[in-house]
Amino acid sequence: MTLPQHPGSLTQALYLRAKQLIPGGTQLLSKRPEMFAPEVWPGYYQSCNGCTVVDLDGREYTDMSIMGIGACLLGYADPDVTDAVTERIRRGSMCTLNAPEEVLLAEELIRIHPWAEQVRYARTGGEAMTVAVRIARAATDRSLIAFCGYHGWHDWYLAANRRPKGEGDSLKGHLLPGLHPNGVPEELAGTAIPFQYNQIDQLQQIIKKEGKRLAAVVMEPTRYSDPEPGYLEQVRELCHQNGSLLVIDEITAGWRMHYGGAHLKYGIEPDIAVFGKALGNGHPMAAIIGTKTAMQAAQETFISSTYWTEAVGPAAALATLKRMKETDLSTKLNALGHELRYGITPIAEKFGIPLKLLGHAPITHFQYDHPQAAEIQTYITIQMLERNILAGAGFYASLAHSSQHIQRYLEAYRAIYAELQEPVEKRTVDKLLKSPVKHGGFSRLN
Ligand SMILES: Cc1ncc(COP(=O)(O)O)c(C=O)c1O
Repeated sequence: MTLPQHPGSLTQALYLRAKQLIPGGTQLLSKRPEMFAPEVWPGYYQSCNGCTVVDLDGREYTDMSIMGIGACLLGYADPDVTDAVTERIRRGSMCTLNAPEEVLLAEELIRIHPWAEQVRYARTGGEAMTVAVRIARAATDRSLIAFCGYHGWHDWYLAANRRPKGEGDSLKGHLLPGLHPNGVPEELAGTAIPFQYNQIDQLQQIIKKEGKRLAAVVMEPTRYSDPEPGYLEQVRELCHQNGSLLVIDEITAGWRMHYGGAHLKYGIEPDIAVFGKALGNGHPMAAIIGTKTAMQAAQETFISSTYWTEAVGPAAALATLKRMKETDLSTKLNALGHELRYGITPIAEKFGIPLKLLGHAPITHFQYDHPQAAEIQTYITIQMLERNILAGAGFYASLAHSSQHIQRYLEAYRAIYAELQEPVEKRTVDKLLKSPVKHGGFSRLN
């Protein structure tokens, strides 16, 4: 096997410098080259458009991986969004006065979500979730949060991995393996209580034990599977009986499965819903929407930040929402995801590759039930790079993808799975690799 000529290239050299200058090398765990193929994955881009990415060495790839980790549902540098943003930048996007787009966007979000009455903004998902949690705590005058899934890096959330001093090694028995809580005050131990999706009894237990102290239940409407019939309704009912708020995190689920978010698809009216990532199609924007009763609590605490007032985010969001609606985006993304799923399953079966597909069609995750699962994924990523395809353990569909992209991707899988057939059977995939194996991420509680 010949390795792509990446080691020693500009892209690789810059990452080596980055690791000296930037702890961890990148600002986001999921963008570390080690998460894909250490020493081979091209860590940096010079331009991106549609689903085409050009790395620092001028090599062009089709992105069949995470599409800016789910931030670019319309594809990179969508022309309408880019026009709206550049036009706003030319007129000035930061000022002593406020951006009128904030109000227009609030009206639009409320039009899409008739259950919601008020809106606040942030720029990133994690901080928007932190705003939602603060509002819920202020509204209920309670401290505890029951949650399932991933919601960002902030203290309220990582507190789940904190154990009080004297209770042994806090890193042992991690609830969310891979997320280190060092630096989170140990006094927050016990304030964030996890439960698993579709396990209503777990939430019932939490409420039975801690109900009087429970400010909110925080969860994604769905991650990998649909809710069991009645599950989300029961969660909502439990919250309301208990005087806790239901906060739905649509940061990743939102818009791709259903315009407005998966909670609308499932017919659930939360107290608060949070959007980020795709809302600005690559331009930082996040929104916290809610009932007036819940959102009014934002007035009774201090939630305020300079750059939450800049105009690019709301201008991008208005253009993004318009384009998502006009293009019937979620239908297209579902179709692309299904085309990949239906296409890859028989190929994997033919070559005896123990592939398991997880998630909903617009975000399809690949898992290999095999002791060398990480080796298999690393080999696939390296081989895809050779074919000028960025590929990881998941495919995030975007409007920039077409059936041709899917078919080309499937052809590449056919060739790579054929090469893997024997090593997978004999458990010798490690022998194929000339560079290190990819690192694992963290495990979600879902
Ligand atoms: C469901 C969910 N919530 C919150 C976040 C955090 O968002 P951000 O990375 O923009 O802070 C993410 C990011 O992956 C997410 O998937």
